[in-house]
Amino acid sequence: MAKLKVGILISGRGSNMAALIEAARAPDYPAEIAAVISNVASAAGLELARDAGVPTVVVPHKEFPDRESFDRVVSAELEKRGVGLVALAGFMRIQSPWFPGHWKDRIVNIHPSLLPAFPGLRVQQQAIDAGVRISGCTVHFVTADLDSGPIIAQAAVPVLPDDDADRLAARILRQEHRLYPLVVRWFAEGRLSVSSAQVAVAGVPNGATLLFSSDP
Ligand code: GRF
Repeated sequence: MAKLKVGILISGRGSNMAALIEAARAPDYPAEIAAVISNVASAAGLELARDAGVPTVVVPHKEFPDRESFDRVVSAELEKRGVGLVALAGFMRIQSPWFPGHWKDRIVNIHPSLLPAFPGLRVQQQAIDAGVRISGCTVHFVTADLDSGPIIAQAAVPVLPDDDADRLAARILRQEHRLYPLVVRWFAEGRLSVSSAQVAVAGVPNGATLLFSSDP
């Protein structure tokens, strides 16, 4: 069977992108990375993608008069390559409502908190400041509302008394690198179905409530 083609959008480091590229190397992985697109020409992840032989495209957002015209060009680049799933991975552009509308139920994002807690930026510091004992990461479908689409899966980690934002971020990131490839696999295998805010995961025991946890 033909593999699902995934397009990854990045703006920076690209460690989640690298985890997806690595997972897709396995012959039995049901998805391939068809393109990595960045709005930032200097994004470190672009070099990782090129080294891995994945086609890269830079679409500098500053060259566009508004968000939607940028989004439409990104979308055309994805469609040109037959992409069936868009994975946002540290993509730091707020999109126009057009983009998630166009890619409805075919666009996912990873966020380093247990949504709906701590949307937005500097979320590890937000978690520490709030005094929560557990944080983690969330993979969700993307809608026009920032960090609030239907949740597909979450992974939890402890927040320890001597954590700073970097230490907590690193602990969460290890789980992000496990969770994102798993969710993309589920999508490619056709296991995900969305009805309003709920996502069902077919054929995975307790899939909808999957919970990872890590040692400190
Ligand atoms: C990750 O923490 C991800 O959850 C968030 O942005 C960060 C991107 O890191 N959306 P990387 O570029 O994948 O290393």
